[in-house]
Amino acid sequence: MISPGSIDLLLNAAVVEDVVGDYVTLRRSGSRFKGLCPFHDEKTPSFTVTPTLGIYKCFGCQKGGNSIHFLMEMENLSFAEAARQLARRYGVELEETGGQETDEYKENQKLRESLQAVLDYAAGFFSTQLHDTENGRNIALAYFKERGFTTDTIHKWGLGYSPDDWEALTKQAQKDGYSLDYLEQAGLVKKRENGSPFDLFRNRVMFRLQSVSGKIIGFAGRKMSSTDPSPKYVNSPETELYKKSDNLFGIFQAKQAIKKSDKVYLTEGYTDVITLHQAGIENVVASSGTALTPGQIKLLRRFSPNVTVLYDGDLAGIKASLRGINLLLAEDLNVRVVSLPEGEDPDSLCAKMGGEAFKTFLQEKEENFILFKAKLLLKDVENDPLKKSDAVRDILDSVAEIRDPLKRTALNRQLAGVCDMEEALLSAELSKLVRKKTADVEQQTYTELKQITEAAGIEMPRETLTDEPQENAFLRLLMLHADKPFKEELTVFDFIMQELHNNDLLTFSIPFTQKVMNEIIRDDIATWPGQQHFVNHSDAEIASWAASVLSSGLELSKAFEDVHIYVLHEEDNYKHEVISLFLHLRRKKLDMIIRENMEKLKNPEAETVDILEYLEYLSFMRLKIANELGGAVFTM
Ligand code: UTP
Ligand code: MN
Repeated sequence: MISPGSIDLLLNAAVVEDVVGDYVTLRRSGSRFKGLCPFHDEKTPSFTVTPTLGIYKCFGCQKGGNSIHFLMEMENLSFAEAARQLARRYGVELEETGGQETDEYKENQKLRESLQAVLDYAAGFFSTQLHDTENGRNIALAYFKERGFTTDTIHKWGLGYSPDDWEALTKQAQKDGYSLDYLEQAGLVKKRENGSPFDLFRNRVMFRLQSVSGKIIGFAGRKMSSTDPSPKYVNSPETELYKKSDNLFGIFQAKQAIKKSDKVYLTEGYTDVITLHQAGIENVVASSGTALTPGQIKLLRRFSPNVTVLYDGDLAGIKASLRGINLLLAEDLNVRVVSLPEGEDPDSLCAKMGGEAFKTFLQEKEENFILFKAKLLLKDVENDPLKKSDAVRDILDSVAEIRDPLKRTALNRQLAGVCDMEEALLSAELSKLVRKKTADVEQQTYTELKQITEAAGIEMPRETLTDEPQENAFLRLLMLHADKPFKEELTVFDFIMQELHNNDLLTFSIPFTQKVMNEIIRDDIATWPGQQHFVNHSDAEIASWAASVLSSGLELSKAFEDVHIYVLHEEDNYKHEVISLFLHLRRKKLDMIIRENMEKLKNPEAETVDILEYLEYLSFMRLKIANELGGAVFTM
């Protein structure tokens, strides 16, 4: 156990914005810092760091705590481990007292520590093999030198060598006290069918795979001879410590440079990253030859939203990887592209040109991803109108991923030039695609918001649906779209009823709404009787209402006039409207709670700090909802 006194000392010494800043790009906002939460997926920053209190807090996922907690979460450490790591960093001496930690997850922790020890050992082993054995020096070191890696580079990246031997590591590691079981679980040793173990990495130059905080989590080994028929690279399998899809090669070495330059170069290969570093371009990572995963994108985004993809100059390869880039766009990253001359990769070209010339080359050749894609796709189809329209749709599909409407519009203008098409035509097509996409995103956001507001105890009492314009809007939506699909198996009607029911919203302020609802809900069971039921109704008020709604077509939705949001009643826009309606309701409810709490503040005996915290949270949620409403709507 560490004494509470020394934990206090440690927390006083630790600089929370630096501890967090190693993992998250923070921007100052008043007396605090803000950034994208590393613990959950989000597009707008909910994550705050308050230096004066030494704490962080995410208003989205509710995670919060001090520097020690942050390291525990980020690095999957126990409290004591995180404290020790922090203590080393800030030169604080921790006082150990008696007692012991009894934790169930100690078991898993022990496994992780053991695997870490094995991997660290193996890294040392491969280095020793490289530097201190004859074959290492003559074959592997010679290979690295031949490729232009300097001694500094070889040390900086901890490069190594696995000898041409089936059991070199297996035997030595066991001799040095590491169990076969852990060697196997660390992905270093495999077993034949008869159970006899063998080294995974043989006769290869070795690269370390490191986590964002620099821990060794695996290895990659490259063959040294082109006549060797085995695969070019052998990579560690996924283990308890190595999750391929959440990692990027070079992120540990690159993260400071990425933050500083607010930009990252994305390459494919290990050697690309190393050679560029050696040339002084340090904000570079590699996806390791596979399509980018959402986990990798999330990792990148923590450090910078500006991603420049370096494409090897092979047309087929480029086309194949175009799709993956849409993922980057959808995550709100600014994607640029540099395409390299045929037959070159960043490593080869940089080595050929020299670092300075390569830097200039990157600056000059960098272009917007979508314009790049457009030129590429249009090249082959100039004379074929059918193929051309397919290409254009493919391009617009990328544009539609961009969430910022201003950026979309600007791009669309440029595209019109590139495609030699009417801007209006393109933007009409684009609107359609965007609407389709936002409906999906909104549903996600809505679910997310709902969870958050509910977790915070914000319920929607009946008075939220009290105003007439909103009830009218709600009835219109039912009338026009009730039968249409909403999500998975649910129709619009199912969804609306479910929401009303869950929120106890089954009584209404205007009698007419109640009258319509009485047609829908009988004996506590809600069924949609169909448009015709209302059109042909014997009650004249209902019949004429139904007729006028059905014939209204394009019209401004009254419910949204107060916030100057205009909604087009187009066929593919209804999901958006349904969600907007419920978001509006939630916002109104939030406003009420905010007012209530402001009132409470006037009471001299109020728990001011608590209320202020709560108010801050409420206004944050309100802003988030407002952003969703504002951002997702098409103003025409
Ligand atoms: P490349 O074939 O482009 O190799 O694969 P490279 O990075 O340029 O390597 P050198 O310069 O020939 O030494 C790109 C990346 O794809 C992954 C590796 O991460 C590699 O860096 N890869 C490739 C594998 O994992 N296995 C393979 O067999 C080949
Ligand atoms: Mn290469």
